[in-house]
Amino acid sequence: MYLTPNELIKNILNEGRNRLYEHEAFKLLELSGFPVPRTGLAKDVGEAVSIAEAVGYPVVLKIVSPQVLHKSDVGGVILNINSSKEVEEGFNKIINNVKKHVPNAEIYGILVQEMVPQGLETIVGSTKDPVFGHIMVFGLGGIFVEVLRDVSFRIAPLEFEEALEMVDEIKSNRILAGFRGSPPRDKKALAEIIVKLSKLVTENPEISEVDLNPVIVFEEGKGAKIADARFIISK
Ligand SMILES: Nc1ncnc2c1ncn2[C@@H]1O[C@H](COP(=O)(O)OP(=O)(O)O)[C@@H](O)[C@H]1O
Ligand SMILES: [Mg+2]
Repeated sequence: MYLTPNELIKNILNEGRNRLYEHEAFKLLELSGFPVPRTGLAKDVGEAVSIAEAVGYPVVLKIVSPQVLHKSDVGGVILNINSSKEVEEGFNKIINNVKKHVPNAEIYGILVQEMVPQGLETIVGSTKDPVFGHIMVFGLGGIFVEVLRDVSFRIAPLEFEEALEMVDEIKSNRILAGFRGSPPRDKKALAEIIVKLSKLVTENPEISEVDLNPVIVFEEGKGAKIADARFIISK
């Protein structure tokens, strides 16, 4: 379907849109070699069930709508779905939840996604500054970013060693190193994602903002996976 990340971005800009739908964001990441869960877009319940069977249970269902930016705030995410019956129930539940919270929401479809195993939630992002160009951001998920603002920054593009420094630089780095029975995390996998994203945004100047949140990181040596992605693009 899409040949290159750049063609995908150009097609969306030509449609007059500035935000990628979630399935497009995951397609872009997959085309660029990022570690992503198996993902498909369903337009109806039947399609959701067949995608779930192909992906393998457990799966996650998520709303895809131009009016919904924070999916879980409107009941638009259901985790740990284990059967075709649960897919059917979850599909309808999400649509009802979204219609209740955002009455004018246009429902583009429902994302059916492999459930990523338990891990530590981190964020990797990029913003575009008029002076410095693309700036990379790293932090731990949840309160660490939202309340404590514990993040590190670098100007893109960057090399692996710099990305690893970024990961080590946050104040809560002991949590990544292993803390009270929780294992040391795969920092190299995080650094690889940061380097790849810095390359992607540098090669595609149309990308003005990226938020990979969460990037779920596993034990050392076991990698990381991107569970949600938001891309803002402009001409
Ligand atoms: N594929 C997945 N596997 C496991 N957990 C997930 C997956 N997708 C989302 N989650 C969990 O659900 C939360 C909300 O989903 P997300 O896609 O980030 O929606 P939003 O940020 O728009 O509310 C995530 O922060 C993560 O904790
Ligand atoms: Mg998210």
